[in-house]
Amino acid sequence: MAKEIRTIGVMTSGGDAPGMNAAIRAVARACAYYNVKCIGFYRGYQGMIEGDYCIMNARSVRNIISRGGTILKSARSKEFRTPEGRQKAANHLKEAGVDAMVLIGGDGTFKGGEIFSKEFDIPVIGVPGTIDNDIAGTNFTIGYDTALNTVIGAIDKIRDTASSHDRLFFIEVMGRDAGFIALNTGVGAGAEEILIPEEDLGLDRLLESLKRSKRSGKSSSIVVVSEGDKIGKNVYELADYVTENLQDYEVKVTVLGHMQRGGSPTCFDRTLASRLCVKAVELLLDGEKNVMVGILNNQIVASSFDKGLKEVHEINKELLRISDILST
Ligand code: F6P
Repeated sequence: MAKEIRTIGVMTSGGDAPGMNAAIRAVARACAYYNVKCIGFYRGYQGMIEGDYCIMNARSVRNIISRGGTILKSARSKEFRTPEGRQKAANHLKEAGVDAMVLIGGDGTFKGGEIFSKEFDIPVIGVPGTIDNDIAGTNFTIGYDTALNTVIGAIDKIRDTASSHDRLFFIEVMGRDAGFIALNTGVGAGAEEILIPEEDLGLDRLLESLKRSKRSGKSSSIVVVSEGDKIGKNVYELADYVTENLQDYEVKVTVLGHMQRGGSPTCFDRTLASRLCVKAVELLLDGEKNVMVGILNNQIVASSFDKGLKEVHEINKELLRISDILST
């Protein structure tokens, strides 16, 4: 028989994402609703290792739904990768009376959670929170929609100056291993080219496409580059390469960087975080363990950690074709 859950712990781990506060709020409020004690651990696994936590009630999470970042802070803990680190974390959970954990983060968070849960028989539920949207088992991760809107706002602004000066801009966006942000904002902002890790289009094609752009009467261009792009050059090297090979372009580079992770979450991310985390608490109370929650076809579903970790969230390459047609 599954053990009774009287106290649920929650933490945020890995790269922060807008909507993590809405997620923490939903865990704390769902716990209050179901009469379960809620404990928030600071800095992800590191807070569990150090016993750095606070007791959360419905009022501790007032007015955070609209705030970016995470009030519980986030970290990537090296110590948690060691058996000694995980033992310390398990001891602190026991001391605090924590029966189960909600882990909000990306694939690194889930990997750690799966090992930890098996080693110490502590039920955990993963909630996908990362701007990269690179987790299988969910159509969307918390923070992705906000990041898309932040990026598109930035690209629109850059387009203004690009067109005033007849320039070519390479804009690097986040996505270490995945091109979701680049591909969707590239289409949404009408970029002339989009470079993503999932598809190496090659340098020749890039030059050809930029030449075609010029011939068709365009005076400015935007190329959106995912930071994990596999073309073999970073964004500065790409800009140098194009400058050397296409003298008629004045080339500039903008790296959007960590501003993509900040800001007030969109309505979509707040609602997603709320739905996922209520479900996470309810699953734990129903005796479910070691799964991640996700949204598939607008339904909140649970799937095995293995799915999130081993399968690839396929990018919609059809968007590359759409981009090609529309950048004519
Ligand atoms: O949040 C995911 C992500 O944005 C990746 O796309 C990026 O490579 C990484 O985080 C960088 O994060 P940090 O600077 O915290 O290591």
